[in-house]
Amino acid sequence: MTRAPRLLVALDGSALEGSSVHRMLAAACDGARDAGGQAEHVRAYGLSVKPCVACGPDATTGYCIFHDDMDRVYAMLERAHAVVVGSPIYFDTVSGPLKLLIDRCNCITPLVTLADGSQDCVPLWKRTRRAAFVTACSTDHRYDLAERSVRGFLKWVGARWEETLAWQHPDNEMASVPEVLLAQARHLGRRLVESEPHPADDKN
Ligand SMILES: Cc1cc2nc3c(=O)[nH]c(=O)nc-3n(C[C@H](O)[C@H](O)[C@H](O)COP(=O)(O)O)c2cc1C
Repeated sequence: MTRAPRLLVALDGSALEGSSVHRMLAAACDGARDAGGQAEHVRAYGLSVKPCVACGPDATTGYCIFHDDMDRVYAMLERAHAVVVGSPIYFDTVSGPLKLLIDRCNCITPLVTLADGSQDCVPLWKRTRRAAFVTACSTDHRYDLAERSVRGFLKWVGARWEETLAWQHPDNEMASVPEVLLAQARHLGRRLVESEPHPADDKN
């Protein structure tokens, strides 16, 4: 029996189509398709997403109390074999629209009331997905703070971060990412789709 094509979801926090991050994510999607997978390139700036309001434990039986473009994002992430998050560095972290999307994924590992009355964050999804981060910033600045945020998000949506591709450049020139990094991004997409899911153990 043939299995369904593996899906790579690229979550794009770049403001600009054709920017370095946008091009790296497009290359990762191309790599996923080269490997026989599917790819969805989701631009956070094109979505209508309300901010998380910290609704608290047991607020809904669905993912979120709100229904907006996140419904589509939840469905894609649930189906995803791999997740690649991309963002330029804005004030040491990810861009605002991507952060809205990230915060709204708190409900994939929601705070729930347990049978004994205590509360805990319990993941809805097994942590089987493969994942990576791609970013761009100045050579004089850092991306590790954004990477920390993205790695926390990936854990929350049942994914395991494996690597970061960073384009650090001395100028603010648009789309200046070099071919060598685009080739690495393409290889990344291909590798993630060709790799088996992580084992669904209970030690998540
Ligand atoms: C609002 C804003 C904030 C920024 N903050 C930082 C920063 O904290 N550190 C940094 O290195 N670059 C910063 N930059 C520059 C971008 O990260 C950099 O130009 C990056 O390459 C843009 O990626 P892109 O071409 O994929 O959009 C900022 C740019 C903007 C517009």
